[in-house]
Amino acid sequence: MSFRIQPTAPARPNRCQLFGPGSNTKLFPKMAASAADVINLDLEDSVAPSDKDSARANVIEALNSIDWGTKYLSVRINGLDTPYWYRDVVDLLEQAGDRLDQIMIPKVGCAADVYAVDALVTAVERAKGRSKVISFEVIIESAAGIAHVEEIAAASPRLQAMSLGAADFAASMGMQTTGIGGTQKNYYMLHQGQKHWSDPWHWAQTAIVAACRTHGVLPVDGPFGDFSDDEGFRAQALRSATLGMVGKWAIHPRQIALANEVFTPSDAAVSEAREILAAMETAKAKGEGATVYKGRLVDIASIKQAEVIVAQSELIAGG
Ligand code: COA
Ligand code: MG
Repeated sequence: MSFRIQPTAPARPNRCQLFGPGSNTKLFPKMAASAADVINLDLEDSVAPSDKDSARANVIEALNSIDWGTKYLSVRINGLDTPYWYRDVVDLLEQAGDRLDQIMIPKVGCAADVYAVDALVTAVERAKGRSKVISFEVIIESAAGIAHVEEIAAASPRLQAMSLGAADFAASMGMQTTGIGGTQKNYYMLHQGQKHWSDPWHWAQTAIVAACRTHGVLPVDGPFGDFSDDEGFRAQALRSATLGMVGKWAIHPRQIALANEVFTPSDAAVSEAREILAAMETAKAKGEGATVYKGRLVDIASIKQAEVIVAQSELIAGG
């Protein structure tokens, strides 16, 4: 193992990020009252070009006037390929108070994209004497984004979270699908005449998790478009949690409870993890580095695996 210790990701719950268009003010109080850990007010692709200025003003007003409780509050700015993003940053940092926690940068393609926003945010923070440091989250949703994912994860000390954005990612990659996440009917293996579906998002998710874990960033699964398909959402979220992601977006309120359920370790999983830790304590007292738990090997690596589950559970219970 490298002598460098793997950095820890920010210790805050990020099981569900609830999105709402900045142009739809009637959703804001409902978002504030929801059970999502993170709120993403959107200025980007859910807002029509003609509404960009008014959505920005709505979001600033909502940040300053609504009681958002303990939620982590993020605003998705427009992409660096648009004429809107600098005004998003300047107005937010000049006019929104300290309740704003985070800026989400979409369609990041290289580390310099993050650097550019960091430079602007830093300048406005200093000019305005803002004491609270705004954090960043990014969306990996292009071929360039996934090709440069590791340098992006390392791009700024402000960076706390990174999401996979399935729809733009699929378009940028030229994938033949209009689905936003989930099972794709043409992506299967054939074995003895039977179709076995595979997961076309898997490698991008895994690349994101590896880049995030290397640099102490939270890896998050993005949207699941078919909000009438609870089981499809749950299956996608379970795969993401198994791969090491800590949460998932909700683009409709019915997805919030599903995300919270999947990304909260179950009581059974936590009990088993604690039993493994106890079994390893007993082994250690006997001078052994490996032992048997329920008929299977557990060793010193199992301690680390069990600690991931216990730590996640304690974080959520305290959050
Ligand atoms: N946050 C909070 N509440 C929401 C919500 C959201 N994102 N989306 C819908 N609701 C509310 C509705 O206002 C409605 O409330 P009511 O029962 O008090 O009337 C209730 O949930 C049921 O909504 P429903 O009628 O099923 O959906 P809709 O047709 O009003 O809206 C969408 C559907 C997809 C347009 C809407 O959910 C939405 O805008 N989602 C977010 C899109 C987004 O931000 N995309 C960018 C990231 S990919
Ligand atoms: Mg997108």
